[in-house]
Amino acid sequence: MITRPDTPTPWINYLGTEEYFGFVSNTAGGCSFFRDARLRRLTRYRYNNAPADVGGRYLYLRDDASGAFWSPTWQPTRRELDDYECRHGLSYTRIASSWGGVRAETLYFVPLGEDLEVWRLAVTNERDAPVSLSLFSSVEFCLWDAQDDATNFQRNLSVGQVEVEDGVVFHTSEYRERRDHFAYFACSEPLAGFDSQREAFLGPYRGWERPLAVEEGRSSGSIAHGWAPIGSHHVRLDLAPSASAEVVFLLGYAENPAEDKFDPPGSVTLNKRRVRPVIDHWLRTDVVDEAFDALRSHWGELLSVLEVATPDEDTNRMVNIWNPYQCLVTFNLSRSISLYESGIGRGLGFRDSNQDLLGFVHLRPARARERLLDLAATQLATGGAYHQYQPLTKRGNDGIGSGFNDDPLWLILAAAAYLKETGDAPVLDEPVPYDNLPGTETTFYEHLRRALGYTLGRLGPHGLPLIGRADWNDCLNLNCLSDTPGESFQTAENRAGGVAESVFIAGQFVLAAAELAGIARLRGLVKEAESYEGAAQQMTAVIDRHGWDGEWFLRAYDHAGGVVGSHRNDEGQIFIEPQGICILAGVGVNDGRAARALASVRARLATEHGIMLQQPAYSRYYRELGEISSYPPGYKENAGIFCHANPWIMIAETIVGDGDAAFDYYRRINPSAREAISGVHRCEPYVYAQMIAGRDAPAHGEAKNSWLTGTAAWNLVALTQWILGIRPELGGLRIDPVLPSHWPGFTARRRWRGATYEIAVTQAAGASGRVRRLVVDGTDVEGNLVRPAPPGTTVRIEASIG
Ligand code: GLC
Ligand code: GLC
Repeated sequence: MITRPDTPTPWINYLGTEEYFGFVSNTAGGCSFFRDARLRRLTRYRYNNAPADVGGRYLYLRDDASGAFWSPTWQPTRRELDDYECRHGLSYTRIASSWGGVRAETLYFVPLGEDLEVWRLAVTNERDAPVSLSLFSSVEFCLWDAQDDATNFQRNLSVGQVEVEDGVVFHTSEYRERRDHFAYFACSEPLAGFDSQREAFLGPYRGWERPLAVEEGRSSGSIAHGWAPIGSHHVRLDLAPSASAEVVFLLGYAENPAEDKFDPPGSVTLNKRRVRPVIDHWLRTDVVDEAFDALRSHWGELLSVLEVATPDEDTNRMVNIWNPYQCLVTFNLSRSISLYESGIGRGLGFRDSNQDLLGFVHLRPARARERLLDLAATQLATGGAYHQYQPLTKRGNDGIGSGFNDDPLWLILAAAAYLKETGDAPVLDEPVPYDNLPGTETTFYEHLRRALGYTLGRLGPHGLPLIGRADWNDCLNLNCLSDTPGESFQTAENRAGGVAESVFIAGQFVLAAAELAGIARLRGLVKEAESYEGAAQQMTAVIDRHGWDGEWFLRAYDHAGGVVGSHRNDEGQIFIEPQGICILAGVGVNDGRAARALASVRARLATEHGIMLQQPAYSRYYRELGEISSYPPGYKENAGIFCHANPWIMIAETIVGDGDAAFDYYRRINPSAREAISGVHRCEPYVYAQMIAGRDAPAHGEAKNSWLTGTAAWNLVALTQWILGIRPELGGLRIDPVLPSHWPGFTARRRWRGATYEIAVTQAAGASGRVRRLVVDGTDVEGNLVRPAPPGTTVRIEASIG
């Protein structure tokens, strides 16, 4: 619940769960799209605008006696409200306010399975006297392709078209030529008027904060021809004291089959016969209420897969609700659209999507399976991967190409997570093509083999994996050597080199090889499994020899063979990534180096706001390092607190057995725990942000790029699987908590492979360490692995620590 409209940054939420999506801020800003945020954008949003957050689902109320008007969601009039509250929930947002004795509450959501959004408004007269109100709605249509819409004005300003029939505004730009889709904006009540041309509604030289139609209390019935099509309804409401009115608005997307586009056939008039029943149905409040209940049950069901009760309220809040919710949003939207992603830039990242899967596989295993196979189908026959793919076509993106050498290994880690969750071994035999070329199919398992082989076929002078364009750290561009201003580090021609190596990929390889060995054993391929284990051991030996800097793991070797992330460098001496990933892979755990590396992280990288990516920050541009040094110190990859990599250190701390350190790091970036410092953090206190400014930045502690980040998945994994220690494995459910020492324990319920596990962990006061005793359904068991129980059964697990 947000209790003031002027949050430090707009605090947003997402609507939609399947194909129709939008985001909505706490003051109703945002936009909507169908499937593809670039190519099927329904409404406009103004990035870079001042004031911020303009373009949205706006309503205006006008007291017709005095002429005073306001926005019940505060924006866009920003007239001070007597009270205000916004509740962001699971795929819905409700904004309530009062002004001058008139209360208004708007609920926004997308019904399950529908290509439309509902705005359900309730207006109540809380005065002692009757009130006459004018209600105006407004949306501004986007001309479908959001990229063109924001740039190609010579064309755009002439192509806008609408049709208005029975009070419904149909946005039909380009429908008369090749498009078969349109948008509509409908209202449940009889209209006093409407507008569909922006300037007619706003008035010349006016903005959304003071539309002429609202000021005058009268719409003009404008029909957009070119310029800027909008939808706006005018409804008059006369309310006796205490009386309420309910109004439903619908914004929707629809398609007509090619042969039935026009009515009458042969004309260029939109055929509305197919969509009309949909509109009539959804304008009914009983239908809307039922759909809202269904949405709530849908989320209730999803979130019941894992529920925890720990002594820490911020942990419970994140783990039970907001963190899995964010994971599903990143699954649906990858990095496409947020306040920081314009929806026109990137496709789905190969690396990003594989990691996102770690956070939602338990919630939507069937979708995870589909995603895995889609990703594998964009793999190249070499085992390499396109860095991105396009969600509409599911094909690899030629524009950015391949050669990010960490990419293929993520597929193995994601496949392993899927198999551990589901036990679905048959997925390994699914035929999957390379580069989407029919005829090239091999088993999915063979794709995983080739992914591992891709690394082994690309080793550098020290025997470490070659980095290629970049590894997880997109901004460590060791083969780019760019001097050209503005050139993209992601797409610039890379030198071949064959020298620049990544210790990060080496650690990732050790981890992936162990996972693939487990999967090979599942298939009875013992020899093959041993060969992967051998390869992991060899790579570990190489890391020991060439990847250890004395007090921490080295980061890389550059194009000329120089060290990166070493005490021998002037800047960028220690990086977070190799410390995290190498320890996750078990490197250095038995010989004390893991603990030393973690002590170095604590001494050199940890801040009260989280762990910085590297130190000291790069104070100037280093041609041999690339984009990492093009960010000012403290931001993004240049010594920002890159939240995605923080959970690797949390997990590493649990691996060396330090639950206090792990949980302490967890709380430092937990958004809910940071709510108290919202003035510093500024982003939403319920979702992770990609980055928090590091110590070198003037705004240390300030978050940016909230919502669409791999941080969501990894923090959920770190907390639930490593700190709480409820960890699905191929052969069973591991119960291996490593808790902060002040916790007396926790309880959890986990649905896994069809059975329910009720877990109670107790920790003796002052004790810490690992599970000493495990009781399953009343019987003591050896070790801490619980075998899968028959579907439908409930298993009671009691674990004690210390
Ligand atoms: C961004 C990218 C991700 C990358 C990370 C570090 O989050 O989406 O792919 O690993 O930055 O550069
Ligand atoms: C990656 C990085 C980001 C960078 C972007 C484009 O996604 O996370 O910092 O800006 O690539 O270069």
